[in-house]
Amino acid sequence: MPTTAAFPAAVLLLLCAAAASASASAAFIDGLLPNGDFELGPKASDMRGTVVVGRYAVPKWEISGFVEYIKSGQKQGDMLLVVPGGAFAVRLGNEASIKQRLPVARGMYYSLTFSAARTCAQEEKLNVSVAPDWGVLPMQTLYSSNGWDSYAWAFRADRDVAEIVIHNPGVEEDPACGPLIDSVAIRALYPPKASNRNLLKNGDFEEGPYVFPNTTWGVLIPPNIEDDHSPLPGWMVESLKAVKYIDSGHFSVPEGKRAVELVAGKESAIAQVARTIPGKTYVLSFAVGDASNSCEGSMVVEAFAGKDTVKVPYESKGKGGYKRAVLRFKAVSVRTRIMFYSTFYTMRSDDFSSLCGPVLDDVKLLSVRNP
Ligand SMILES: *[C@@H]1O[C@H](CO)[C@@H](O)[C@H](O)[C@H]1NC(C)=O
Ligand SMILES: *[C@@H]1O[C@H](CO)[C@@H](O)[C@H](O)[C@H]1NC(C)=O
Repeated sequence: MPTTAAFPAAVLLLLCAAAASASASAAFIDGLLPNGDFELGPKASDMRGTVVVGRYAVPKWEISGFVEYIKSGQKQGDMLLVVPGGAFAVRLGNEASIKQRLPVARGMYYSLTFSAARTCAQEEKLNVSVAPDWGVLPMQTLYSSNGWDSYAWAFRADRDVAEIVIHNPGVEEDPACGPLIDSVAIRALYPPKASNRNLLKNGDFEEGPYVFPNTTWGVLIPPNIEDDHSPLPGWMVESLKAVKYIDSGHFSVPEGKRAVELVAGKESAIAQVARTIPGKTYVLSFAVGDASNSCEGSMVVEAFAGKDTVKVPYESKGKGGYKRAVLRFKAVSVRTRIMFYSTFYTMRSDDFSSLCGPVLDDVKLLSVRNP
């Protein structure tokens, strides 16, 4: 039967070709992961109360450990669990994880955004990973008053399929204590380059993580201590606390569609190292404003260029607006560290439990002729 030998080989070739072109074009499009909002739930037979039984019981996801499927409005003690993106979320108990495999383009950078809420423990953490990259995101500080915040984390795709894992490494006494997870999304990043019109990369913050159209609290860019891939390309969050990435759909933004809000005083600094020529004079210009989110009061943004610094006061009425500022300096090194933080902590006037702060946008670094 000579045909049977030749035929499968031909089919195999065709299949390979189809698979190759499929994997090239099937890389995921920005947005929610399949069942990323967990609206598709387990069958009743795969639940024991709220606990999910079975590795593949939540459609499109693989789970392990103590995972609960939570309906919005469910009570826990005297706490009402409210889910922002639709009606359902999952809760990751001690050592529990959720996992999904997603086609991606090898070599590209991606940012994951997900919404999470603490439920009982004071300090909760999530380990987000796409092997070999991982990052532990702390969620001990409440930035939004309803308990939910969105977090971004970035990775470089080493393979055509990314295995995305969100794991709660916690070991609380009550296994049902653990963060709620809702709305997991991804966005391909296109890291911008420095140019002769701006020696800083992504100075307008237009390139960054996915922002959920339905959430009103922005996206936290966690401190990148052990992480060299920033979800906010070009920029590093150097201090202990996150900075908040905000969009013009929900906030007032000085320029373009995106900006950052410095939400945690001196504990949330954002920085970038620029190439400079020693002896040359540079002008660092930027916009300081407020996000129109009831963040009122006297604010100060401190900008640094190496050892040079300027303090920019801004009186916020919490209704939007901005001013421009400039720091002129002479470079003393081939690399100059540009950094910004807010001098003070500020709380929203409409809810005294949410941290907020001045907005930074449109950061430009240019060399000028020596005077
Ligand atoms: C986070 O998860 C990754 C992947 O499972 C693992 O290699 C890493 O050790 C974990 N990190 C911590 C601090 O648990
Ligand atoms: C946003 O809300 C609309 C209407 O409630 C819903 O159809 C849509 O899926 C939501 N989008 C996301 C990304 O959650």
